[in-house]
Amino acid sequence: MMGYHSPTFCLLLCSHFISVLCSSPSPTHLCSPNQSAALFQFKTHFSINQTASKNCEYSNPKAKTTSWKKGTNCCLWDGVSCDNITGEVISLDLSCSCLSGTFPSNTTFFLLSSLQRLDLSFNDFGKSEISSNFGRFPSSTHLDLSYSWFSGLVPYEISYLSNLVSLYLSYRPTTDLIGFQAPGPILKLKKFAVNEIVRNLTKVREIYLDGIDMSSIDPNSLVNLSYSLTSLSLFGCHLRGKLPDNIFKLPNIEYLRLDENPKLTGQFPKSNWSSPLLDSLYLSFNYFSGKIPSSLTNPAKLSILTLNDNQLEGFLPDNQNAFPNLALLDLSNNLLSGTTPSWLYTIPRLLYLNLGNNQFNGHISEFQNRLLIKIILKDSSFRGPIPSSISKLVDLTSLDLSSNELNGTISLNMFSELQNLKKLDVFDLHSNFIEGDLPKLPPNIRFLSVSNNSLVGTLSGICNMKFIEILDLSHNDFSGIIPQCIGSFSQSLSSLNLKMNKLHGAITSIFAKGCALKNLNLNSNHLEGPLTPSITNCKELQVLDARNNMVNDSFPHWIEALSELQVLVLRSNRFHGPITAATSPRSLLKLRIVDLSYNNLFVPLPTDYIKNFKRMINIIDDGKAVKGFEIELVKILTIFTSIDLSCNNFEGQIPRDIGELSSLRGLNLSHNNLVGHIPSSLRNMTRLEWLDLSSNKLSGQIPTGLLDLTFLSSFNVSCNQLVGPIPKGKQFNTFENGSYQGNVGLCGVPLSRGCNNNVLGQPPPAPWMNSHEDDGSKLEFGWKVVVIGYGFGFIFGAAMGCGCLRTGVGV
Ligand SMILES: *[C@@H]1O[C@H](CO)[C@@H](O)[C@H](O)[C@H]1NC(C)=O
Ligand SMILES: *[C@@H]1O[C@H](CO)[C@@H](O)[C@H](O)[C@H]1NC(C)=O
Ligand SMILES: *[C@@H]1O[C@H](CO)[C@@H](O)[C@H](O)[C@H]1NC(C)=O
Ligand SMILES: *[C@@H]1O[C@H](CO)[C@@H](O)[C@H](O)[C@H]1NC(C)=O
Ligand SMILES: *[C@@H]1O[C@H](CO)[C@@H](O)[C@H](O)[C@H]1NC(C)=O
Ligand SMILES: *[C@@H]1O[C@H](CO)[C@@H](O)[C@H](O)[C@H]1NC(C)=O
Ligand SMILES: *[C@@H]1O[C@H](CO)[C@@H](O)[C@H](O)[C@H]1NC(C)=O
Ligand SMILES: *[C@@H]1O[C@H](CO)[C@@H](O)[C@H](O)[C@H]1NC(C)=O
Ligand SMILES: *[C@@H]1O[C@H](CO)[C@@H](O)[C@H](O)[C@H]1NC(C)=O
Ligand SMILES: *[C@@H]1O[C@H](CO)[C@@H](O)[C@H](O)[C@H]1NC(C)=O
Ligand SMILES: *[C@@H]1O[C@H](CO)[C@@H](O)[C@H](O)[C@H]1NC(C)=O
Ligand SMILES: *[C@@H]1O[C@H](CO)[C@@H](O)[C@H](O)[C@H]1NC(C)=O
Repeated sequence: MMGYHSPTFCLLLCSHFISVLCSSPSPTHLCSPNQSAALFQFKTHFSINQTASKNCEYSNPKAKTTSWKKGTNCCLWDGVSCDNITGEVISLDLSCSCLSGTFPSNTTFFLLSSLQRLDLSFNDFGKSEISSNFGRFPSSTHLDLSYSWFSGLVPYEISYLSNLVSLYLSYRPTTDLIGFQAPGPILKLKKFAVNEIVRNLTKVREIYLDGIDMSSIDPNSLVNLSYSLTSLSLFGCHLRGKLPDNIFKLPNIEYLRLDENPKLTGQFPKSNWSSPLLDSLYLSFNYFSGKIPSSLTNPAKLSILTLNDNQLEGFLPDNQNAFPNLALLDLSNNLLSGTTPSWLYTIPRLLYLNLGNNQFNGHISEFQNRLLIKIILKDSSFRGPIPSSISKLVDLTSLDLSSNELNGTISLNMFSELQNLKKLDVFDLHSNFIEGDLPKLPPNIRFLSVSNNSLVGTLSGICNMKFIEILDLSHNDFSGIIPQCIGSFSQSLSSLNLKMNKLHGAITSIFAKGCALKNLNLNSNHLEGPLTPSITNCKELQVLDARNNMVNDSFPHWIEALSELQVLVLRSNRFHGPITAATSPRSLLKLRIVDLSYNNLFVPLPTDYIKNFKRMINIIDDGKAVKGFEIELVKILTIFTSIDLSCNNFEGQIPRDIGELSSLRGLNLSHNNLVGHIPSSLRNMTRLEWLDLSSNKLSGQIPTGLLDLTFLSSFNVSCNQLVGPIPKGKQFNTFENGSYQGNVGLCGVPLSRGCNNNVLGQPPPAPWMNSHEDDGSKLEFGWKVVVIGYGFGFIFGAAMGCGCLRTGVGV
């Protein structure tokens, strides 16, 4: 600093010059008035809006232009730098500057002809086009317009910037920015522009075009990209066709990102594979095929390699050049096969390994490296024992070995060592052939699934797990009682799955205050005795499934206290006695599925009972269930969108209430003894796709309101006593003769019998129609059971009917 080597000296001797001499590192140049004016005019095009820079990655948003004042030296303005000699503006950094507004296609800004660095990233230019005038900065070495909501074609004039070293036009973030809403392809690069860029930008070192639509580009046009390139990022660019393998041979490339171009094909070159400088190679979610050549393991610096979600096949190369620096290796979701080579287990710096969903077989070798954080080897054909070295991986946070053919036992040793683990979020061994007892488990596991193995013995080993959130022990041969500890050892347990074991004994009063369970699955064990009301301590319980046990109890009315309960399945137990309606109209508001079938319960049917359960009737198809159980629930919900009560002896009328089953897709009431009119309320079942009322004794006309059922594709009212004209129009024009035959009084298309006034008259009322729809005839009673059954998931037909095949409404 101007000869003052010691700050102390400066402070002592020139304190009153300090602002002049010590705070200005360089001599200040006045910027020329016309440059100042150009910048100031530029500023006025935009308003300042924090939202415009909400996705800033590397710095905090700062409205730099607010400090720009007319008549002051623009070289001192925030974000502006001038040339030391000429005073011309050479650098403008307005990234993350909260600029919001349309970017003008022509403005004095483009006259800043000495500009070398221009950074406008992370603003919101409201889908403005990128002006061709951006090609008018001949000295430009750095251009960054990324994440600033430009749209349209990238102008080929960018290729005029032949001194460019960095070109950043990405708008799709490669990392998951919280709250970033990736737009669809809004920027597009055409062939001509790409060709010109490749040809003219001979000095370019960094090109980032993530998210730009390059679907019309022949990847071969990238073949002559500058040898100076160190970074090329074309993530999610809709590239299609074959990638020239020269890309892998660029001599200086360090960062190569071509992932998420699902129509991009290619194979790896067998030799001269990429520069020795290559540090990161992302090729996941493409359509690469063929084998992984042994030369791939050459780049000594490689630290990230993602080849997942391609069509790669064959064995992994079995060569000695391991990866000294590799930290992340993802080969999942390919067609790779064979045994895994030994180098895979010795990569010294590996933190993340994912080989899931391939066809690997053979044993999993022992891991030599102790740094591993994540190991995913699921969905292959690995055999043999669980490698004992995992107990040495103290930083491990997830281990997924599920869906293999691993056998052997979970050794006590493995878990006693795992006590050292800091935390283990995913420990997944489901669907293997693991045998033996469950040893005492360490406290620091949050997720444990050993489902679908051959484990035996009692569950006492789980009592330690203070932080467990999801515990899946289903589909094993565990026996003994449900340990008393289970209700109290973890306040974090949200899902407990004990389905399909051999647990027996009574479910004692185990659930303590503060129980956090959302899902409790006791399905298919040998549990007996009453169901413990201590379950009401689990205030957040959403799913309670105790089906297929021997629980002997009266109807658990206390479930009314479980206000979050959505699914209650007590089917096939020994519940007995009456079910009465909920006492409080506000309880069980979220209940959607109840299956109480195969018990000895009965429903006394108070008059307004149906109304209490109306809320169950309109099943919301897209409802989300407890995490991890969605699929099972969706299955159930799908079944619940149709009712088949055909081939029973239901009598009476179809009640108006049926219209309230508005989520129903299919209704089959055929082959019963139903009488009366087809209720016009059917028009409210707006999702109905098939409706079969055939072979009953229905009378009256077909309500024209059924024309509203726009999804109806199958309709059958044959073999009834219907009269009058068949509704005309819409989907009714598609139904054929067979839908209507066997009704002497029907007329009109498609029947050959035309309509005339004689048959259009009201039919004479039948003797049994004197009663009002609602006055509780036999038939009405029958229907109420149907509606409740629908809500309750009763299986109809098991005990009644004419012996024809039925799908039922249950699960
Ligand atoms: C301007 O001056 C500063 C300080 O003397 C120096 O570090 C910088 O390199 C100079 N810039 C140019 C473009 O000459
Ligand atoms: C800032 O931008 C957001 C999003 O475009 C908009 O909703 C909001 O009204 C703007 N705020 C101001 C003060 O203009
Ligand atoms: C941009 O404006 C300048 C004057 O401000 C004018 O000379 C030039 O022709 C304009 N260019 C375009 C492409 O409109
Ligand atoms: C600014 O004015 C000078 C002379 O006054 C001229 O040479 C230069 O081209 C002008 N620059 C701009 C950006 O208009
Ligand atoms: C390359 O850029 C220069 C300007 O720097 C321009 O004159 C020339 O037309 C460009 N060439 C191509 C092939 O785009
Ligand atoms: C690449 O450069 C070579 C040599 O200059 C040329 O023959 C070839 O046509 C170029 N390829 C493409 C696709 O531009
Ligand atoms: C690999 O590179 C070397 C040296 O650059 C060269 O001699 C050799 O021909 C190249 N091999 C292939 C197959 O391209
Ligand atoms: C595991 O399976 C292999 C056959 O794949 C068998 O030879 C071995 O004995 C089994 N080990 C145990 C402990 O069951
Ligand atoms: C159990 O694992 C076998 C393969 O080992 C698999 O086929 C089956 O679907 C799995 N069953 C369940 C319920 O996950
Ligand atoms: C249910 O338990 C009662 C006694 O609590 C007993 O009398 C009855 O037989 C049991 N029912 C069944 C089906 O086991
Ligand atoms: C209704 O049920 C009957 C008897 O089970 C069956 O024959 C008919 O195909 C079913 N109708 C529809 C539309 O599925
Ligand atoms: C159809 O539903 C609406 C609204 O729920 C109701 O007002 C109307 O009465 C229903 N129509 C029939 C015919 O039941």
